[in-house]
This record gives sequence, structure tokens and C-alpha cells, in this order.
Amino acid sequence: MLRIGSLQLDSPLLLAPVAGHCDLPFRLTARSCGGIGLAYTDLLCPHGVIKQNKQTRWLMATDSADQPLGTQLYGKDPDLMCEAARLAVDHGAPLIDINMGCPVDKVTKTFAGAMMLCTADHAVELAQRLVEAVGDRAPVTAKMRLGYRHGELTAPELARRLIDVGIQCITIHGRTAEQRFKGFADMDGIAAVVDAVHGAGGGAIPCIGNGGIRTPYDAITMFDRTGCDGVMIARAALGAPWIFHDTRQLLTVGRIDNELTLQQRIEVIRQHARHMIAMRDAPYGLNRMRQKISGYAKHLGPSKALRIAMQKVSEPDHVDEALDRFLDEAGAAADAVPITWAQRHEQLQIEANRIQGSPVPA
Ligand SMILES: Cc1cc2nc3c(=O)[nH]c(=O)nc-3n(C[C@H](O)[C@H](O)[C@H](O)COP(=O)(O)O)c2cc1C
Repeated sequence: MLRIGSLQLDSPLLLAPVAGHCDLPFRLTARSCGGIGLAYTDLLCPHGVIKQNKQTRWLMATDSADQPLGTQLYGKDPDLMCEAARLAVDHGAPLIDINMGCPVDKVTKTFAGAMMLCTADHAVELAQRLVEAVGDRAPVTAKMRLGYRHGELTAPELARRLIDVGIQCITIHGRTAEQRFKGFADMDGIAAVVDAVHGAGGGAIPCIGNGGIRTPYDAITMFDRTGCDGVMIARAALGAPWIFHDTRQLLTVGRIDNELTLQQRIEVIRQHARHMIAMRDAPYGLNRMRQKISGYAKHLGPSKALRIAMQKVSEPDHVDEALDRFLDEAGAAADAVPITWAQRHEQLQIEANRIQGSPVPA
């Protein structure tokens, strides 16, 4: 089973940090479905952590059912990063992750995030300082991309150097910063980073593969093609937080049994809405639910009526009413699986073939 430093995980499947989406309400919802070994906060600015402003307090909010939770920090200044990491660990964070992959201008222009791929000496020094500051209490890890510019593969060398200064796990997103979130993840690039990680630090450091996982079958391909020790899922989890449960089942028993019925999927959405409304407030929760329903709808079969109804909700009770009405109208279909992972996988392959004009590599 996957181990990161002193942290033993129950599952090799990780919920990615996805700023603005993988917040406490979503993490609790996804964790209740099962299968998640580790989740993360959004990337946090060390100033916010130190000052504990309202927004950062929300982003750091957690719960006993939301463990283990890695705290992800981004920044260039080692003193600030170390102070923020110490505070996070004092508050119980079991793992500190350094963001070395964010391609957003606001972050890279401060020489943080993916810009660390272009300033390797500084990235290594920062990592070393963080390991010295908190490494005896919590593993320090790094999440990075293959390289900054298209075609670049700087991550294997950087990963080796980070491990030399005590980094305990590397997560590799198989795209470059220039690619942002588009295109296919490069499995060969991920495999090269996995090899570098396994060849360093006495072979004890795990490497997590990330990028382009849309179904449990994609996760199996990632394990098989790259030799990674764990798989991190980001966008595909947003509309199907049960993906971790189903992927773990596919990994352990070789098939996915008892996929969630329409009724059970609706209960997941209901739970997510309830957490959002209870943990923030009704206007916030309702607004977020209006945005999130289209992600869930991909896994509900024909659901235009629900999408329209959710755009109109203005009171918490309206969410339950819209969900109940949708289930009533579904009739016997409520007890059936609306779309299986195998069907979704095939659908995505067909879409990819149409876009590419050629078959997607298996
Ligand atoms: C809206 C959005 C926000 C993200 N926020 C973060 C973040 O805070 N920290 C981070 O390391 N990665 C962040 N990512 C990157 C994801 O963690 C992940 O590496 C990327 O989406 C590739 O995985 P996927 O193909 O499964 O989506 C974000 C991605 C998206 C789309």
C-alpha cells in the first residue's frame, strides 16, 4: 500500500487539489463514497496562511472525516513558506505539498508554481528549507509538470534533486505548463519521471501519476503504462466523486460491481448541496450547485429537466424539491445505473477519435 514518509494511505488514489472545487464540502462528499487515500487543500498563499484571513481559513477548513488532508502551498520566499508550513503542521496538517505546476500568470509571475520548473536551483533550495522546517513532523512533497515549454522534459532531473534534499513524494502531471489543461497527458513523460523517482532516494520514494484520468479504466492504464505508485484524479472527480470507489474496486478485484444507481447518484448530489449550504451559506451553496450540476449531469443519463430546474433554485428546499421531482419523473429508471463507466469510457473514446481523427492510444 502507498506510503508517503510516515503517512500510510489506505488507497493509492488521490483527490487532486482543484482550486475553487475540491473544498471541504466536496471532499467530504467524495470521501463518503470511499476509495480516496489522500486529498489536498487548494494551493494556498503563505501570506494568507500566516495572517489567517477569512478566505484562507475557509480554504484550510477541515474535519475529522476529511483526513488525511495535505496542505498545498505556493510561493517563492523560503522564510514565508516555512512559517506557513510550520503553522499548518501546528494545526495538524499531516503533509505539506509544494505547488510546482500551476501555470496561471498570477502565480508564475511571482516565480512560483510552474515557474519553479525554470528555476530549479531555487526550487531545490526552497524544498530543502521546508524539509528542515517541518520534515520531522510531516512529509514534504512536490507536485509538478513535465516541463515548462511544450516538448520539454525537465521534471525527471528536478525530481531527483528534490529527493536528494528530502522530498518524500513526487506527483507528476503529464502535461507541460504551456499545455495548461489541454490535450492528452503524456504517459511516456510520466513514466520517465517515475523511473527517475524510483532510481533516487534508495527507491523508497513514491511517484503519483496525474492527468487525463476520466474513468477508472484510464487509471488502470496510467498504472500499467507508467509504473506509478498512485494515481491522482482532478476534473473527472467533480461530476463523479464515486470514481475513487469504483477505481479501487477495479484495481483490487478487476471489475466494477454495483455501480451507483440514478437514485444513489442523486443522493450524492443532495449530500454535496447540503454540505455546501451548511458550511458556507445558502446563496453561496445554491450558486455553486447551479454551476456544478452540469458536471454531475454527464453521469445521470437524460437530465436536461434537472439542469434547468437547478438553475432556478433560490432556497435550500428548492434543491431537494428539484432532485425529488427528477427522481419521481425517472420512475423505475431511478433504480437503474444511468450510465456505466464502461459506457462512459466508450463515449469518451468516440469523442476523442472524432476530435483527433485517429484512434486514441490505449
Ligand atoms: C480549475 C482548476 C484548479 C486547479 N487548482 C490546482 C491547485 O490548486 N493546485 C494544484 O496543484 N493543481 C491544481 N489544478 C491541477 C489539477 O490538480 C490537475 O493536476 C490537473 O487538472 C490535471 O488532472 P486532470 O486531467 O485529472 O484534471 C487545478 C486544475 C484546474 C482545472
